[in-house]
Amino acid sequence: MSRYIAVIDQGTTSTRCILFDHAGRAGAMTQMEHRQFYPRPGWVEHDPLEIWQNVQTVVSKALQEAKTETGDIAALAVTNQRETLVAWDQSTGNPIYPAIVWQDTRSVEICDQLSLEGGRDRFRVRTGLPIATYFSGPKLQWLLENIEGARIKAERGELLCGTIDSWLVWNLTGGVNGGVHVTDATNASRTLLMNIETLAWDDDLLAAMNVPPAALPAIHSSSEIYGLATGVLAGVPVAGILGDQQAALFGQTGFDRGEAKNTYGTGCFLLLNTGSNPVHSRHGLITTVAYQLGDTPPVFALEGSIAYAGALVQWLRDNLGLIKTAAEVEDLANSVEDNGGIYIVPAFSGLFAPYWRSDARGIIIGLTPYADKGHFARAALEATAYQTRDIVDAMRQETGMDLDLLKVDGGMVVNETLMQFLSDILGIPIARPIVTETTALGAAYAAGLAVGFWADIGELRGLWRKDKEWQPRMARETRDYLYSGWNKAVKHTFGWLD
Ligand code: G3P
Repeated sequence: MSRYIAVIDQGTTSTRCILFDHAGRAGAMTQMEHRQFYPRPGWVEHDPLEIWQNVQTVVSKALQEAKTETGDIAALAVTNQRETLVAWDQSTGNPIYPAIVWQDTRSVEICDQLSLEGGRDRFRVRTGLPIATYFSGPKLQWLLENIEGARIKAERGELLCGTIDSWLVWNLTGGVNGGVHVTDATNASRTLLMNIETLAWDDDLLAAMNVPPAALPAIHSSSEIYGLATGVLAGVPVAGILGDQQAALFGQTGFDRGEAKNTYGTGCFLLLNTGSNPVHSRHGLITTVAYQLGDTPPVFALEGSIAYAGALVQWLRDNLGLIKTAAEVEDLANSVEDNGGIYIVPAFSGLFAPYWRSDARGIIIGLTPYADKGHFARAALEATAYQTRDIVDAMRQETGMDLDLLKVDGGMVVNETLMQFLSDILGIPIARPIVTETTALGAAYAAGLAVGFWADIGELRGLWRKDKEWQPRMARETRDYLYSGWNKAVKHTFGWLD
């Protein structure tokens, strides 16, 4: 019997390959970073060929590290940074333009134009989403309008477009030699082009953004065999696709209505399972497909999306040089007692949930001569917790339900200072699992279910193990006082582009 499920986790800053065994333990893990391009303020790009090259390298290295061969791999899964758009020539396999990353705000005018008639929530019932630069549809409209020859090629079916999962699965399954052009419902639910009731591309939405249907991938479930891999994993079924945040919910075994997780990576994304019905938000959350297993009905989630969490720490490191490694932020933050009155609101790509303000820009506020770099580090960590509180409050207003526990994962959860502050600011316990590579694990589960590596979700639930839990210790008055400062700071970010 095969020993592993292989997962490619293609994130905003890096690409990993992890091999998971039957117990859900990682047998090998390899990782490579890729370059970030910022050609203009608000623009963020990746090189799709660099990403594809990195995928091949991390897969080969993972096989070597585990001293294993293709015959030991039962299935391959792809999980990915969502909303990032790639467009490539079907006959050559070459991208016609860099990948336009989810954080990129170049489509702001397109979004304003789309909102003129019916406002920002014009497509909310149909898609679960507000009109925002975050989503792939307006990025695709921009590309078709601005890149010479793109529209003609797209109309003729010679241009293939999609999110990163589509790009990778097409390449993995043979590329110009018969690669399949597919996506799954979780990724498609982030485009503003898919109807969330039918899980199909919606003609009216395609017309509104002037997108030719021939350019789009076929929408499949998150757990089925899409095709067989070629190259180093030749013959292995590609059997799972999940957007990374949905994969993390799946990896945290958030299978029941009311279960939630928050993943602290580049950004942070809180997903609450709402069961078999899409719940439409009136409090700034978005409605998204959580997963669909084969031909079973889809499961939905409410999501609070935050663009900058770990990326704010990287910004302190790379742009301000305050720390040498991201891990150093914890010691620096602990060199001071509190935030010294400083708040950082990292509205670098506008503010996402629950505000959806494309016109917001980041601020550091509350400065006095007392402030030092420890306060900056502390304010950066606290920003992540306050942003989470914004989302948890919106979830409560939306559903009337109080979260009694938040499961967390992602790179930032090693930061124990942040975990305690998070519990304090939310006033609820925070639970960290032993396997914090939950995103990759969830994608492994999806592929493993498709090929019978695991029997059912009941078996998966039994694999979840807690590592540590934090309890709130802060007095309510202190929590309320600190959070009111955050709310004041947020208001100062609005309207900066007016
Ligand atoms: O929606 C964007 C999200 O999928 C990015 O995730 O983990 O790459 O920050 P991550």
